[in-house]
Amino acid sequence: MLKPNMFYGDLKESYLFYNIAKKTGKYLEEHPDTHLYRMGIGDVSLPLCDAVIKALHEAADDQSVPEKFNGYMPECGAGFLRSAIAEHYRGRGVQLADDEVFVSSGASDELGDILDLFDRENSSLIIEPAYPAYVDANVMGGRKIVHLASGRDNGFLPTPDENTKADLIYICSPNNPTGAVFSREQLKAWVDHANKNGSVILFDAAYEAFIEDESLPRSIFEIEGARTCAIEICSLSKTAGFTGTRLGYTVIPHDLERSSMNFNKMWVRNRTTKTNGVSYVIQRAGAAVFTPEGQQQIKQNIAVYKKNAKVLMKVFDQLGIWYTGGKNAPYIWLECPNGMGSWEFFDFLLNEAQIVGTPGEGFGKCGEGYFRFSTFGSPADTEEAAARLLKLLG
Ligand code: MLT
Repeated sequence: MLKPNMFYGDLKESYLFYNIAKKTGKYLEEHPDTHLYRMGIGDVSLPLCDAVIKALHEAADDQSVPEKFNGYMPECGAGFLRSAIAEHYRGRGVQLADDEVFVSSGASDELGDILDLFDRENSSLIIEPAYPAYVDANVMGGRKIVHLASGRDNGFLPTPDENTKADLIYICSPNNPTGAVFSREQLKAWVDHANKNGSVILFDAAYEAFIEDESLPRSIFEIEGARTCAIEICSLSKTAGFTGTRLGYTVIPHDLERSSMNFNKMWVRNRTTKTNGVSYVIQRAGAAVFTPEGQQQIKQNIAVYKKNAKVLMKVFDQLGIWYTGGKNAPYIWLECPNGMGSWEFFDFLLNEAQIVGTPGEGFGKCGEGYFRFSTFGSPADTEEAAARLLKLLG
Protein backbone atom coordinates (compact mmCIF):
# COMPACT_ATOMS: atom_id res chain seq x y z
CA MET A 1 0.00 0.00 0.00
CA LEU A 2 1.28 3.46 -0.83
CA LYS A 3 2.65 5.22 2.22
CA PRO A 4 3.03 9.04 2.17
CA ASN A 5 6.08 10.70 3.63
CA MET A 6 4.74 10.72 7.17
CA PHE A 7 7.37 13.27 8.24
CA TYR A 8 5.15 15.96 6.69
CA GLY A 9 2.95 15.39 9.72
CA ASP A 10 5.79 16.80 11.86
CA LEU A 11 5.80 20.14 10.03
CA LYS A 12 4.14 23.23 11.42
CA GLU A 13 0.73 23.62 9.83
CA SER A 14 1.89 26.29 7.40
CA TYR A 15 4.96 28.26 6.39
CA LEU A 16 5.84 31.54 8.14
CA PHE A 17 5.54 33.86 5.14
CA TYR A 18 2.31 32.17 4.07
CA ASN A 19 0.86 32.92 7.52
CA ILE A 20 1.90 36.55 7.27
CA ALA A 21 0.42 36.86 3.78
CA LYS A 22 -2.85 35.39 5.09
CA LYS A 23 -2.99 37.82 8.03
CA THR A 24 -2.22 40.85 5.86
CA GLY A 25 -4.68 39.64 3.20
CA LYS A 26 -7.43 39.49 5.83
CA TYR A 27 -6.54 43.00 7.06
CA LEU A 28 -6.78 44.33 3.49
CA GLU A 29 -10.14 42.65 2.97
CA GLU A 30 -11.41 44.47 6.05
CA HIS A 31 -9.68 47.77 5.15
CA PRO A 32 -9.76 47.74 1.33
CA ASP A 33 -8.36 51.21 0.68
CA THR A 34 -5.38 50.94 2.98
CA HIS A 35 -1.79 51.13 1.85
CA LEU A 36 0.47 48.71 3.74
CA TYR A 37 4.13 49.42 4.46
CA ARG A 38 5.61 46.03 3.67
CA MET A 39 8.83 45.21 5.47
CA GLY A 40 8.06 41.53 6.03
CA ILE A 41 9.35 39.03 3.47
CA GLY A 42 12.69 40.03 1.99
CA ASP A 43 11.43 40.67 -1.51
CA VAL A 44 13.15 43.37 -3.53
CA SER A 45 11.33 46.47 -4.77
CA LEU A 46 13.80 47.80 -7.36
CA PRO A 47 13.73 46.55 -10.96
CA LEU A 48 16.58 44.58 -12.53
CA CYS A 49 19.55 46.73 -13.51
CA ASP A 50 20.12 47.86 -17.12
CA ALA A 51 22.98 45.43 -17.81
CA VAL A 52 20.72 42.51 -16.87
CA ILE A 53 17.76 43.79 -18.91
CA LYS A 54 20.01 44.24 -21.96
CA ALA A 55 21.33 40.69 -21.59
CA LEU A 56 17.78 39.33 -21.25
CA HIS A 57 16.73 41.04 -24.49
CA GLU A 58 19.82 39.90 -26.39
CA ALA A 59 19.44 36.34 -25.13
CA ALA A 60 15.77 36.29 -26.13
CA ASP A 61 16.79 37.45 -29.62
CA ASP A 62 19.39 34.66 -29.79
CA GLN A 63 16.57 32.17 -29.30
CA SER A 64 15.00 33.39 -32.56
CA VAL A 65 18.11 32.71 -34.68
CA PRO A 66 18.85 29.10 -35.69
CA GLU A 67 22.65 29.53 -35.31
CA LYS A 68 22.32 31.07 -31.87
CA PHE A 69 19.39 29.09 -30.53
CA ASN A 70 19.89 27.05 -27.32
CA GLY A 71 17.85 24.02 -26.32
CA TYR A 72 18.77 22.02 -23.21
CA MET A 73 21.47 23.72 -21.21
CA PRO A 74 24.29 21.87 -19.41
CA GLU A 75 22.77 20.51 -16.19
CA CYS A 76 25.44 21.97 -13.89
CA GLY A 77 25.36 25.38 -15.56
CA ALA A 78 26.53 27.08 -18.76
CA GLY A 79 30.32 27.27 -19.06
CA PHE A 80 30.19 31.06 -19.52
CA LEU A 81 28.33 31.54 -16.22
CA ARG A 82 30.29 29.00 -14.14
CA SER A 83 33.46 30.67 -15.28
CA ALA A 84 32.13 34.22 -14.62
CA ILE A 85 31.18 33.24 -11.06
CA ALA A 86 34.47 31.44 -10.36
CA GLU A 87 36.35 34.45 -11.76
CA HIS A 88 34.36 36.72 -9.45
CA TYR A 89 35.51 34.64 -6.45
CA ARG A 90 39.10 34.59 -7.75
CA GLY A 91 38.94 38.38 -8.04
CA ARG A 92 38.23 38.47 -4.31
CA GLY A 93 41.18 36.15 -3.57
CA VAL A 94 39.25 32.86 -3.28
CA GLN A 95 40.73 30.26 -5.60
CA LEU A 96 38.02 28.14 -7.23
CA ALA A 97 37.96 26.00 -10.35
CA ASP A 98 35.09 26.71 -12.75
CA ASP A 99 33.68 23.21 -12.25
CA GLU A 100 33.43 23.74 -8.51
CA VAL A 101 30.58 26.15 -9.26
CA PHE A 102 27.09 24.78 -10.01
CA VAL A 103 24.36 27.05 -11.36
CA SER A 104 20.98 26.66 -9.67
CA SER A 105 17.55 28.20 -9.83
CA GLY A 106 17.99 29.82 -6.43
CA ALA A 107 19.28 29.26 -2.92
CA SER A 108 15.99 28.22 -1.35
CA ASP A 109 15.56 25.34 -3.85
CA GLU A 110 19.17 24.32 -3.43
CA LEU A 111 19.18 24.37 0.40
CA GLY A 112 16.57 21.62 0.33
CA ASP A 113 17.85 19.70 -2.71
CA ILE A 114 21.43 19.50 -1.43
CA LEU A 115 20.26 17.16 1.33
CA ASP A 116 20.18 14.41 -1.34
CA LEU A 117 23.94 14.16 -0.79
CA PHE A 118 23.62 13.07 2.83
CA ASP A 119 22.36 10.00 4.59
CA ARG A 120 18.98 10.31 6.26
CA GLU A 121 20.56 9.26 9.56
CA ASN A 122 22.70 12.42 9.60
CA SER A 123 21.74 15.08 12.11
CA SER A 124 21.50 18.78 11.17
CA LEU A 125 22.51 21.60 13.45
CA ILE A 126 20.48 24.76 12.98
CA ILE A 127 21.55 27.97 14.66
CA GLU A 128 18.37 29.70 15.73
CA PRO A 129 16.70 32.05 15.06
CA ALA A 130 16.94 30.66 11.51
CA TYR A 131 15.45 30.88 8.04
CA PRO A 132 12.51 28.46 8.52
CA ALA A 133 13.16 26.51 5.31
CA TYR A 134 16.27 24.90 6.90
CA VAL A 135 14.13 23.31 9.58
CA ASP A 136 11.30 22.35 7.24
CA ALA A 137 13.57 20.72 4.63
CA ASN A 138 15.14 18.59 7.37
CA VAL A 139 11.80 17.68 8.90
CA MET A 140 10.53 16.59 5.46
CA GLY A 141 13.64 14.42 5.10
CA GLY A 142 13.10 12.87 8.53
CA ARG A 143 16.43 14.09 9.86
CA LYS A 144 17.26 14.70 13.47
CA ILE A 145 17.57 18.44 14.12
CA VAL A 146 19.90 19.87 16.74
CA HIS A 147 18.63 23.34 17.64
CA LEU A 148 21.35 25.73 18.79
CA ALA A 149 19.75 28.80 20.33
CA SER A 150 21.53 32.13 20.08
CA GLY A 151 20.72 35.41 21.76
CA ARG A 152 21.72 38.93 22.68
CA ASP A 153 24.45 37.60 24.99
CA ASN A 154 26.49 36.26 22.05
CA GLY A 155 25.26 38.84 19.52
CA PHE A 156 23.29 36.00 17.83
CA LEU A 157 26.65 34.59 16.68
CA PRO A 158 27.31 31.41 18.66
CA THR A 159 30.50 29.37 18.23
CA PRO A 160 30.83 25.63 18.85
CA ASP A 161 32.14 23.92 21.98
CA GLU A 162 32.89 20.27 22.77
CA ASN A 163 29.19 19.59 23.33
CA THR A 164 28.21 20.79 19.83
CA LYS A 165 27.61 17.63 17.84
CA ALA A 166 25.98 17.31 14.42
CA ASP A 167 26.80 15.97 10.97
CA LEU A 168 25.48 18.92 8.99
CA ILE A 169 25.85 22.49 10.20
CA TYR A 170 23.83 25.34 8.71
CA ILE A 171 25.46 28.76 8.88
CA CYS A 172 23.91 31.85 7.34
CA SER A 173 26.11 34.97 7.35
CA PRO A 174 25.09 37.77 7.03
CA ASN A 175 22.30 36.15 8.91
CA ASN A 176 18.69 35.88 8.05
CA PRO A 177 16.86 36.93 10.23
CA THR A 178 19.25 38.72 12.60
CA GLY A 179 21.51 40.57 10.15
CA ALA A 180 24.47 39.61 12.37
CA VAL A 181 27.69 38.65 10.55
CA PHE A 182 30.27 36.09 11.69
CA SER A 183 33.83 37.39 11.96
CA ARG A 184 36.75 35.49 10.44
CA GLU A 185 37.72 34.13 13.87
CA GLN A 186 34.19 32.93 14.58
CA LEU A 187 33.88 31.21 11.20
CA LYS A 188 37.32 29.66 11.67
CA ALA A 189 36.05 28.12 14.92
CA TRP A 190 33.18 26.48 12.98
CA VAL A 191 35.49 25.32 10.17
CA ASP A 192 37.96 23.78 12.64
CA HIS A 193 35.10 22.14 14.51
CA ALA A 194 33.66 20.67 11.29
CA ASN A 195 37.03 19.35 10.10
CA LYS A 196 37.74 17.82 13.50
CA ASN A 197 34.38 16.05 13.68
CA GLY A 198 33.91 15.17 10.00
CA SER A 199 30.84 17.44 9.75
CA VAL A 200 29.88 19.41 6.64
CA ILE A 201 28.93 23.10 6.83
CA LEU A 202 26.13 24.28 4.55
CA PHE A 203 26.99 27.96 4.25
CA ASP A 204 24.17 30.21 3.10
CA ALA A 205 25.81 33.29 1.57
CA ALA A 206 22.66 34.82 0.06
CA TYR A 207 23.32 38.19 1.71
CA GLU A 208 27.10 38.48 1.18
CA ALA A 209 26.75 41.45 -1.18
CA PHE A 210 25.50 43.61 1.72
CA ILE A 211 28.74 43.37 3.69
CA GLU A 212 30.43 46.75 3.73
CA ASP A 213 32.92 46.11 6.51
CA GLU A 214 36.02 44.86 4.64
CA SER A 215 37.22 42.79 7.60
CA LEU A 216 34.17 40.51 7.48
CA PRO A 217 34.24 37.34 5.35
CA ARG A 218 31.85 37.18 2.39
CA SER A 219 32.52 33.52 1.62
CA ILE A 220 33.28 30.54 3.85
CA PHE A 221 36.10 29.77 1.41
CA GLU A 222 37.97 32.83 2.67
CA ILE A 223 38.57 30.72 5.77
CA GLU A 224 41.48 28.32 5.83
CA GLY A 225 40.37 24.69 5.96
CA ALA A 226 36.89 25.32 4.49
CA ARG A 227 37.60 23.40 1.28
CA THR A 228 37.51 20.13 3.19
CA CYS A 229 34.32 20.81 5.15
CA ALA A 230 31.99 23.27 3.41
CA ILE A 231 29.47 23.81 0.65
CA GLU A 232 28.45 27.39 -0.14
CA ILE A 233 25.00 28.20 -1.43
CA CYS A 234 24.40 31.64 -2.87
CA SER A 235 21.79 33.48 -4.88
CA LEU A 236 21.32 36.52 -7.07
CA SER A 237 17.90 37.17 -5.48
CA LYS A 238 19.07 39.83 -3.06
CA THR A 239 22.41 40.63 -4.74
CA ALA A 240 20.83 41.59 -8.06
CA GLY A 241 17.06 41.58 -7.59
CA PHE A 242 16.49 38.08 -9.03
CA THR A 243 13.76 37.02 -6.56
CA GLY A 244 11.35 36.53 -9.45
CA THR A 245 13.94 35.84 -12.14
CA ARG A 246 15.46 32.91 -10.17
CA LEU A 247 19.17 32.19 -10.32
CA GLY A 248 21.67 31.00 -7.77
CA TYR A 249 24.89 29.06 -7.48
CA THR A 250 26.46 26.46 -5.26
CA VAL A 251 30.16 25.90 -4.65
CA ILE A 252 31.33 22.37 -3.88
CA PRO A 253 35.13 22.06 -3.72
CA HIS A 254 36.85 19.02 -5.21
CA ASP A 255 38.51 18.47 -1.81
CA LEU A 256 35.23 17.78 -0.02
CA GLU A 257 35.03 14.04 0.61
CA ARG A 258 33.72 11.66 3.25
CA SER A 259 33.91 7.83 3.29
CA SER A 260 35.75 7.95 -0.07
CA MET A 261 32.78 9.70 -1.69
CA ASN A 262 33.45 12.98 -3.48
CA PHE A 263 30.60 15.48 -3.04
CA ASN A 264 31.41 17.46 -6.17
CA LYS A 265 31.16 14.30 -8.30
CA MET A 266 28.01 13.23 -6.47
CA TRP A 267 26.40 16.61 -7.20
CA VAL A 268 27.27 16.31 -10.91
CA ARG A 269 25.57 12.90 -10.84
CA ASN A 270 22.58 14.38 -9.02
CA ARG A 271 22.15 17.39 -11.30
CA THR A 272 22.58 15.41 -14.52
CA THR A 273 19.76 13.17 -13.33
CA LYS A 274 17.41 15.63 -11.67
CA THR A 275 17.55 18.82 -13.76
CA ASN A 276 17.89 20.00 -17.32
CA GLY A 277 19.61 23.15 -16.17
CA VAL A 278 18.52 26.75 -15.84
CA SER A 279 17.28 28.42 -19.03
CA TYR A 280 19.77 30.04 -21.39
CA VAL A 281 18.08 33.44 -21.19
CA ILE A 282 18.26 33.58 -17.38
CA GLN A 283 21.88 32.40 -17.31
CA ARG A 284 22.83 35.15 -19.72
CA ALA A 285 21.09 37.63 -17.42
CA GLY A 286 23.06 36.16 -14.52
CA ALA A 287 26.36 36.48 -16.37
CA ALA A 288 25.63 40.20 -16.90
CA VAL A 289 25.66 40.66 -13.11
CA PHE A 290 29.35 39.70 -13.04
CA THR A 291 30.45 42.21 -15.70
CA PRO A 292 32.02 45.48 -14.47
CA GLU A 293 28.91 47.34 -15.61
CA GLY A 294 26.59 44.88 -13.86
CA GLN A 295 28.62 45.05 -10.64
CA GLN A 296 28.50 48.82 -10.61
CA GLN A 297 24.74 48.87 -11.22
CA ILE A 298 23.83 46.27 -8.60
CA LYS A 299 25.89 48.22 -6.07
CA GLN A 300 23.75 51.29 -6.79
CA ASN A 301 20.61 49.27 -6.02
CA ILE A 302 22.13 47.81 -2.86
CA ALA A 303 23.01 51.36 -1.78
CA VAL A 304 19.30 52.26 -1.94
CA TYR A 305 18.42 49.39 0.44
CA LYS A 306 21.29 50.39 2.70
CA LYS A 307 19.91 53.89 2.89
CA ASN A 308 16.55 52.41 3.92
CA ALA A 309 18.37 50.53 6.68
CA LYS A 310 19.94 53.78 7.90
CA VAL A 311 16.55 55.50 8.03
CA LEU A 312 15.14 52.70 10.20
CA MET A 313 18.24 52.36 12.40
CA LYS A 314 18.09 56.08 13.15
CA VAL A 315 14.53 55.67 14.43
CA PHE A 316 15.44 52.70 16.64
CA ASP A 317 18.40 54.69 18.01
CA GLN A 318 16.09 57.60 18.79
CA LEU A 319 13.62 55.25 20.47
CA GLY A 320 16.37 53.45 22.43
CA ILE A 321 15.31 50.09 20.98
CA TRP A 322 18.00 47.40 20.91
CA TYR A 323 18.71 45.98 17.45
CA THR A 324 21.34 44.18 15.43
CA GLY A 325 21.92 43.99 11.65
CA GLY A 326 21.20 46.76 9.16
CA LYS A 327 24.81 47.74 8.56
CA ASN A 328 26.16 44.67 6.75
CA ALA A 329 22.82 43.04 6.04
CA PRO A 330 19.40 43.92 4.63
CA TYR A 331 17.61 42.88 7.82
CA ILE A 332 17.22 44.67 11.14
CA TRP A 333 16.45 42.47 14.14
CA LEU A 334 15.07 44.30 17.12
CA GLU A 335 13.74 43.67 20.56
CA CYS A 336 9.97 44.20 20.66
CA PRO A 337 9.25 47.31 22.75
CA ASN A 338 7.46 47.23 26.10
CA GLY A 339 7.98 43.48 26.53
CA MET A 340 5.52 42.66 23.73
CA GLY A 341 5.46 39.18 22.22
CA SER A 342 6.53 39.02 18.59
CA TRP A 343 3.09 38.18 17.12
CA GLU A 344 1.55 40.73 19.48
CA PHE A 345 3.92 43.37 18.07
CA PHE A 346 3.08 42.21 14.54
CA ASP A 347 -0.66 42.77 15.14
CA PHE A 348 0.01 46.07 16.92
CA LEU A 349 2.05 47.45 13.99
CA LEU A 350 -0.41 46.21 11.39
CA ASN A 351 -3.44 47.64 13.15
CA GLU A 352 -1.97 50.89 14.44
CA ALA A 353 0.50 51.88 11.71
CA GLN A 354 -0.27 49.59 8.72
CA ILE A 355 3.31 48.30 8.89
CA VAL A 356 4.12 44.66 8.12
CA GLY A 357 7.22 43.05 9.59
CA THR A 358 8.13 39.49 10.55
CA PRO A 359 7.64 38.15 14.07
CA GLY A 360 10.86 36.71 15.51
CA GLU A 361 9.10 33.66 16.85
CA GLY A 362 8.60 32.51 13.25
CA PHE A 363 12.37 31.89 13.08
CA GLY A 364 12.45 29.61 16.12
CA LYS A 365 11.52 29.70 19.80
CA CYS A 366 14.45 31.91 20.80
CA GLY A 367 13.15 34.55 18.37
CA GLU A 368 10.19 35.21 20.66
CA GLY A 369 10.26 38.82 21.85
CA TYR A 370 12.12 39.93 18.70
CA PHE A 371 11.02 41.28 15.33
CA ARG A 372 12.58 41.51 11.86
CA PHE A 373 12.32 44.36 9.39
CA SER A 374 13.41 43.88 5.82
CA THR A 375 14.98 46.95 4.18
CA PHE A 376 14.03 45.98 0.62
CA GLY A 377 11.01 48.30 0.42
CA SER A 378 10.80 51.50 -1.58
CA PRO A 379 12.56 54.54 -0.04
CA ALA A 380 9.28 56.47 0.12
CA ASP A 381 7.52 53.65 1.99
CA THR A 382 10.49 53.21 4.32
CA GLU A 383 10.55 56.94 5.17
CA GLU A 384 6.84 56.92 5.92
CA ALA A 385 7.06 53.68 7.93
CA ALA A 386 9.95 55.16 9.94
CA ALA A 387 7.91 58.29 10.72
CA ARG A 388 4.94 56.12 11.77
CA LEU A 389 7.16 53.99 14.03
CA LEU A 390 8.58 57.08 15.68
CA LYS A 391 5.11 58.48 16.31
CA LEU A 392 3.64 55.20 17.53
CA LEU A 393 6.49 54.12 19.80
CA GLY A 394 7.93 57.47 20.83
C1 MLT B 1 13.03 36.14 3.81
O1 MLT B 1 12.26 37.09 3.87
O2 MLT B 1 13.42 35.53 4.81
C2 MLT B 1 13.50 35.70 2.47
O3 MLT B 1 13.17 36.62 1.51
C3 MLT B 1 12.91 34.43 2.10
C4 MLT B 1 13.65 33.80 0.95
O4 MLT B 1 14.72 34.24 0.56
O5 MLT B 1 13.12 32.81 0.46
